[in-house]
Amino acid sequence: MEIVTNSEQETRDFAKKFADKLSGGMILCLYGELGAGKTTFVKGLAEGLGVKTNVTSPTFTLMNIYKIQNTKSKIKKLVHIDTYRLKNEQELIQIGAEDYAGAAENITVIEWPEKIANFLKNKKAVKIYLGHASDTVRNIKVES
Ligand SMILES: Nc1ncnc2c1ncn2[C@@H]1O[C@H](COP(=O)(O)OP(=O)(O)OP(=O)(O)O)[C@@H](O)[C@H]1O
Ligand SMILES: [Mg+2]
Repeated sequence: MEIVTNSEQETRDFAKKFADKLSGGMILCLYGELGAGKTTFVKGLAEGLGVKTNVTSPTFTLMNIYKIQNTKSKIKKLVHIDTYRLKNEQELIQIGAEDYAGAAENITVIEWPEKIANFLKNKKAVKIYLGHASDTVRNIKVES
């Protein structure tokens, strides 16, 4: 699936709808350069999943965990990982990521997944590519 968005809001809206297709245990890898819209996508996803708090970039925290307050959903948490400032994969293990990422009741999204190839090795993930077309235009490709 491939779409073009023309604003931050359109990317959020796309991700919000995309959230309906997800089931517990899924890992989404978000590829794209700085400012491609990865965090924007996660904000929309969070909204779609029923996260009530504001999603902020886990650039310094590495991993943020949001509770899903939707009684109808079996998904309990949104796990948001950003490896941009990660020094090594061990650091991710140290903060307990292995207990959250890919767990059956969670949805996990990872920015800069290329930095944690080992961590992801035996995990199944959906790859999503975000590309800059211009200041306001982004190409979003979801690998089937
Ligand atoms: N069509 C669009 N979709 C998403 N963001 C857009 C779009 N057009 C412009 N933008 C802008 O691009 C920026 C995307 O920032 P965002 O933090 O989501 O990127 P990122 O990929 O997470 O970057 P980083 O690698 O630094 O974490 C925002 O400032 C947003 O307003
Ligand atoms: Mg980001």
